[in-house]
Amino acid sequence: MDKFIIKGGKRLEGEIEISGSKNAALPVISASILSDDVSVIRNVSNIADVKFMTLMLEVLGAKADLRDTALRIDPSNCDKFEAPYDLVRKMRASIYVLGALLGRFGKARVSFPGGCVIGTRPIDLHLMGLEKLGAQIEIEHGYIVAHADKLVGADIYLNGPHGPSVGATANVMMAAVQAEGVTTIKEASCELQIVELARFLSAMGAKIEGAGTPLVTIEGVEKLHGAEHIVIPDRMEAATYMVAAAITRGNLLIRDGVAQHMEAVIEKLREAGVEVVEEEKGIRVIAKDPLKPVDLRTAPYPGFPTDVQSQIMALMATVEGISVVTEIVHPERFMHVSELNRMGANIKVEGNSAVVKGVPKLSGAPVMASELRGGAGLVLAGLAAENQTTVSRIYHIDRGYEGMEHKLAGVGADIERIPD
Ligand code: EPZ
Repeated sequence: MDKFIIKGGKRLEGEIEISGSKNAALPVISASILSDDVSVIRNVSNIADVKFMTLMLEVLGAKADLRDTALRIDPSNCDKFEAPYDLVRKMRASIYVLGALLGRFGKARVSFPGGCVIGTRPIDLHLMGLEKLGAQIEIEHGYIVAHADKLVGADIYLNGPHGPSVGATANVMMAAVQAEGVTTIKEASCELQIVELARFLSAMGAKIEGAGTPLVTIEGVEKLHGAEHIVIPDRMEAATYMVAAAITRGNLLIRDGVAQHMEAVIEKLREAGVEVVEEEKGIRVIAKDPLKPVDLRTAPYPGFPTDVQSQIMALMATVEGISVVTEIVHPERFMHVSELNRMGANIKVEGNSAVVKGVPKLSGAPVMASELRGGAGLVLAGLAAENQTTVSRIYHIDRGYEGMEHKLAGVGADIERIPD
């Protein structure tokens, strides 16, 4: 298990290039098995989760070949319908193959994903949506066993206790594109990855309207064909490096960052006194002391993303005054708090809120990543902290950030990867 060793206190300056979006790529990669033709997906990031997903397609019988950033998928020999526990437990997004397999073959056997450190993460909305389309679903020995002689369009509400579900919206879309008749998804997720999935499915021949709004309408078609697709830049990666500029009171150009994809994050950074400027090549972020504390609530898109909550919390830990961070989407996602406190932060969790009292300086310490974004928050804290921070279990970070240490070192951070 590799670690990052960070010697904090360096002001970051320069340009960081953003890779393709993890969360936009994963459903598109799964959807490629909906036809039996080759699809090519470009601007795919070389991260662990993409490798898990391509491995999953290979387990299903497809051929997947990632060269540079182009992923070629040949699903013509796809003849297995089982997503095994060993892969699903490593990556919850494996659940996307449930909708894709059901949509293509009318059957699927997918390991039931368990809870994880960011919460219980149920899949009831996925299963309800697929059942509404006519699938029969049973849970057998830890597996979701689904089959349907015929999928038929239906009206489906996908709003859960914490808002609409991204994954359930994607799974229903994949199952519905070749169903008989019209499906309407009400309270659909408006996330960018849903828009991206719709763009790819439409390029494959699907008929979808309204993606990116709460009402998505899908008219089933007989057959899909292969397609090409270019993945959008990763807005969570971009936001993470925007906060890296802010926490080191630096000046970074986030190359290929798209401001319209991150309005809520930009708004909060500006409220904190960070200068954010749209430039031709990306987004420039400039920060100088003193910054101001901010309160925020995470929310489904276009609200403030839960996937940037820990990073902004690390920033607020360095800003004098009190900030309150409330987590609406994953109310238990606070594993990073005790680690930040080990670095001298003053954060108290009360229910689904964290009260952050800014301190003049964080102090380097050994800390442990427990999940992808929480791990990124710890790295950011390490960049700002005095002396040395060791972040262990960075395999969590490698799931979603391509070459984080190289990108940060390229703009002046003192960070290196040490194999354990
Ligand atoms: C996606 O997860 C992302 N993952 C997550 O990013 C992100 O945190 C999350 O959306 C919210 O934005 C991918 O895109 C691969 P949800 P997903 O279904 O689809 C509840 C990262 O760090 N819910 O929208 O699994 C659920 O418990 C990852 O990149 C139900 O109640 O999230 C949560 O509270 C972590 N029943 C809320 O809805 C369901 O059937 C939103 O979850 C499904 C979800």
